[in-house]
Amino acid sequence: MQNNNIQSDGYATELEYVDDFNAALNPLWIDFSLDIAGIQRRKRSADSDFSYLELGFGMGNSFTLHASGSEGEFVGNDLIPAHCQHALKFITASNSNAKAFKESFKQFKERCTLLNRKFDYIVLHGVWSWISKENQKVIAEIIEGFLAGGGR
Ligand SMILES: C[S@@+](CC[C@H](N)C(=O)[O-])C[C@H]1O[C@@H](n2cnc3c(N)ncnc32)[C@H](O)[C@@H]1O
Repeated sequence: MQNNNIQSDGYATELEYVDDFNAALNPLWIDFSLDIAGIQRRKRSADSDFSYLELGFGMGNSFTLHASGSEGEFVGNDLIPAHCQHALKFITASNSNAKAFKESFKQFKERCTLLNRKFDYIVLHGVWSWISKENQKVIAEIIEGFLAGGGR
């Protein structure tokens, strides 16, 4: 049977993902979960003292909402142009300083390498089991290379 899927970087890009939201990606929720589990993390010196990366943010609802309610630095990427446009709409409307990059994981890894970036949080939801082994390796490299000490 003929496969008409438009593939990009091993991912089918002809359909937009669902318009969902994930409370568990909230950085405060993550800190709370680590604290009650007794897992050490770097404490913030101010409300704005953290950087947060969401990989493959989909429509970007979680990423943009968390950015609009926090003072840290929020960065995210996704491959699908319509996803990034949706995220950008929310970023503009909420006047947050979040940055959404229309880039693949590989491209985003190169950006981090060039800028020598570190993030206190690196999160992803609903991504790992949808992508190729090759891209799983890229994500592992992003976490290994760009998660700050004490990061989560
Ligand atoms: C199943 S969706 C989950 C979206 C979102 N995290 C959520 O939970 O709503 C997987 C996401 O990963 C993105 N994605 C897949 N392969 C990618 C790649 N190589 N680089 C960047 N994003 C990718 C897709 O565009 C899609 O938005």
